[in-house]
Amino acid sequence: MGESQLWHAVDGYFADRLLTEAPDEALTAALRDSDAAGLPPISVSPVAGKLLQLLAQVRGARSILEIGTLGGYSTIWLGRALPADGRLISLEYDARHAEVAVRNIARAGLARQVEVRVGAALDSLPALADENMPPFDLVFIDADKVNNPHYVEWALRLTGAGALIVLDNVVRGGRVADPDNTDPDVVGTRAALDMIGSHPRLTGTAIQTVGTKGYDGFALARVLA
Ligand code: SAH
Ligand code: DHB
Ligand code: MG
Repeated sequence: MGESQLWHAVDGYFADRLLTEAPDEALTAALRDSDAAGLPPISVSPVAGKLLQLLAQVRGARSILEIGTLGGYSTIWLGRALPADGRLISLEYDARHAEVAVRNIARAGLARQVEVRVGAALDSLPALADENMPPFDLVFIDADKVNNPHYVEWALRLTGAGALIVLDNVVRGGRVADPDNTDPDVVGTRAALDMIGSHPRLTGTAIQTVGTKGYDGFALARVLA
């Protein structure tokens, strides 16, 4: 068995052993319909989706901001962690993605808590700040990586002490640490990591992952004040 086949098999093993709650048909259907609509197969993996959910639950999150909705797969995992009066706002550039996501989210019974806003996140974020809503407890950043430093900046503006910021795809097969790689997405992620490491209001770490999405990882940052 090749290395990546092995990662796949172990992800499946973990899913079988650990994702044992009553099967969530809405999650399966979300992937199926996203695929049928031609969306790229880049949602978080099932075990990673449950990690996001668990982080939101441990944090006791009542309000969540997501940047990068795609078909709403990670949105549903996170939305399931919310209390009945909780709120999740997810920002998506592509109207076609958002349309698929809104259907998937409604089927999951999360229409009341979840709102998908269409547009470039860097346009939606200032509008969101102008609404003066209560600070978000968790921010999941998973959109165009070139803007990651801006997204961390906005996450800081829209959260308070104790909030958790999660950044997807910080490894990209190891490209993050390859000094010869100057891909704008990689450069954006490096800048976001530098911010987490140097900002007085942030402390964080990162974990490398292997699995159905290859070799990648997450950065996790806690807002200090
Ligand atoms: N979080 C999703 C996957 C998101 S994929 C999941 O795990 O299920 C990244 C998404 O970010 C894509 O749908 C893409 O259209 C969107 N995106 C790209 N650039 C964006 C931008 N500038 N503003 C908002 N969304 C953007
Ligand atoms: C890819 C994976 C992601 O999780 C993402 O947000 C964007 C792209 C990819 O594998 O290409
Ligand atoms: Mg991602």
